[in-house]
Amino acid sequence: MLQPTEAAADLHSELVDKIATRQAVVAVVGLGYVGLPLATEFALAGFQVRGLDVDPVRIDRIRHGNSYIGDVNSAILHGVVAKELLQATTDDAALAGADAIIVCVPTPLRKTKDPDVSYIVDAAARIQAHARPGQLIVLESTTYPGTCEELVAPMLAETGLELGRELFLAFSPERVDPGNQRYSTRNIPKVVGGIDPASTRAATALYEQIIERVHPVSTTKTAEMVKLLENTFRSVNIGLINEFALICDRMGVDVWEVIEGAATKPFGFMPFYPGPGLGGHCLPIDPIYLSWKAKLLDIEANFIDLAARINASMPRHVVEKIAAALNDDGKPVRGSHILVLGVAYKPDVSDTRESPALDIIKHLLARGALVHYTDPHVDELRYDGLEMGSIECSPQALEAADCVVIVANHTAFDYQAIVDHARLIVDTRNATKALSGRARVVKL
Ligand SMILES: NC(=O)c1ccc[n+]([C@@H]2O[C@H](COP(=O)([O-])OP(=O)(O)OC[C@H]3O[C@@H](n4cnc5c(N)ncnc54)[C@H](O)[C@@H]3O)[C@@H](O)[C@H]2O)c1
Repeated sequence: MLQPTEAAADLHSELVDKIATRQAVVAVVGLGYVGLPLATEFALAGFQVRGLDVDPVRIDRIRHGNSYIGDVNSAILHGVVAKELLQATTDDAALAGADAIIVCVPTPLRKTKDPDVSYIVDAAARIQAHARPGQLIVLESTTYPGTCEELVAPMLAETGLELGRELFLAFSPERVDPGNQRYSTRNIPKVVGGIDPASTRAATALYEQIIERVHPVSTTKTAEMVKLLENTFRSVNIGLINEFALICDRMGVDVWEVIEGAATKPFGFMPFYPGPGLGGHCLPIDPIYLSWKAKLLDIEANFIDLAARINASMPRHVVEKIAAALNDDGKPVRGSHILVLGVAYKPDVSDTRESPALDIIKHLLARGALVHYTDPHVDELRYDGLEMGSIECSPQALEAADCVVIVANHTAFDYQAIVDHARLIVDTRNATKALSGRARVVKL
């Protein structure tokens, strides 16, 4: 008869063997920007994948091979669904048959700006209900350091199964960059940290099946912190360059030319660019998870808070630039026709979550401007009582606007046509660099 230690070792090696031979069933909980590409990638590698989401509309679309995520091609999705490699469901019971469960649920902020980990708790409760010996659970949702140890592990321990021996738990931060043509799930290196060495080994083995480079770290907390360092680094540097832009503006210096000059230094400088404000699910939110946790430990995350303040002030600065530019043309904001180009939070994506365009439009409407928008990726905008539809970026629409504001610099826009037909452009992205036409261009 096997001793308990041998039985546990067997569970681990059985799991790793199943992963290595791609016999393991992989479940992905939360099929959004992160989960759907991941589930598709595992299915393409030949794994049996169960996709679980609480949204029946999304499940239905997956079943019909109809992707709702820009980075997942519908034909490819249709292929893996038709071969039954990817089965999507709203039924938690699918978790019971899974050998590895990857959690990719949202981690937003509450109205009070505190972390909202309720989606993680909900997903963990579903996993808890179906847990069985030999399963690996990996959390990918961005969260504060300590979430796996303090929140998820105790919930899993309530099953009576022993962590590190019967159940394995790891954190692996997601680094997906929607719209990035060069880097996708497969070639973005993946950091993995387990609750113990056995969990790290199992999670590393899992990701090595679909990702070119996996980098193990010593703990879940380290892996959670890695993600927060990456996103805080970006948020702080963007905050710094936005502040630089405000100073340059006051001094009458072109910040874009300054950055271009500084970027010629071959070492010790990395260019970041100013803009109308941060957007998306990550940069405006993730660093706040860290500053919240730091406060609990009596440490002020000064850089994070300062950068968040500067970045959050940018939409208002853009509105002031628009007002000043209209004023130079002898026009008040009230009654002026303003055309916003690009309402997604960054170029070439359809995601409008936390997009600075939303704030800019709301401030302009509050001042009595007549606002329209055009965005080839966003047909409709519904946010906080705002309901608008995208109009065509035609020469007539450009000519009719008192001011055209470039907020998201999508590559689909014809910038030469824009400077040829618009009268006045406020360009927050330097998208009209080196172009000239009829328009007067005011840069950030
Ligand atoms: N979008 C990005 O570019 C990006 C990049 C890196 C990391 N992240 C992080 O990854 C996580 C997921 O982000 P996303 O952008 O994919 O979110 P998303 O909103 O696009 O997708 C989340 C999905 O989870 C589903 N869901 C919610 N609760 C659930 C539950 N209890 N059980 C099953 N499904 C549930 C939702 O219906 C939704 O389909 C977040 O923590 C985010 O910070 C996102």
